[in-house]
Amino acid sequence: MKTTKILFVCLGNICRSPAAEGVMKKLAAGLPVEIQSAGTAGYHIGELPDIRMRSHARKRGYELVSHAQQFNPSKHFEQFDHIVAMDDNNLSDLKAMDKKKQYQHKLSLMTDYSRTMDVHGVPDPYYGGPEGFEHVLEILEDACGGLLKTVDAQ
Ligand code: 4NP
Repeated sequence: MKTTKILFVCLGNICRSPAAEGVMKKLAAGLPVEIQSAGTAGYHIGELPDIRMRSHARKRGYELVSHAQQFNPSKHFEQFDHIVAMDDNNLSDLKAMDKKKQYQHKLSLMTDYSRTMDVHGVPDPYYGGPEGFEHVLEILEDACGGLLKTVDAQ
């Protein structure tokens, strides 16, 4: 069975996309799915996820242990089957990095997969309070379930 490779992308790769990675890894445990995350910016390369995101995630049973990496167009477009952006800015940045428009079919928005929540994009929690981190995790738990169904059906 072919392994499906999924890359989650946000801005800094320390809040939303590593949380998506953690939620999806737990949900897809035992399935032929490989998951990573990356940021469109490089400010936090090598860092563990933000301590606030790690602590909110841990309460829900997710250990976030990835180290931040920057999205690399010359490697990641080819390497992954699904490249899932957290918000519209991340998505338009990714579209623009695909200079020859070869990989647009791999790109989507996390909330395209939402099942019960009516949301567009995963809001950046970085400058807000604890409720923002909880909201991110609620959106991700809902949408990762939808993404897994999509991947499973392929
Ligand atoms: P993320 O959140 O894109 O969900 O990882 C952010 C993390 C850091 C910054 C912005 C957003 N920053 O400006 O450093």
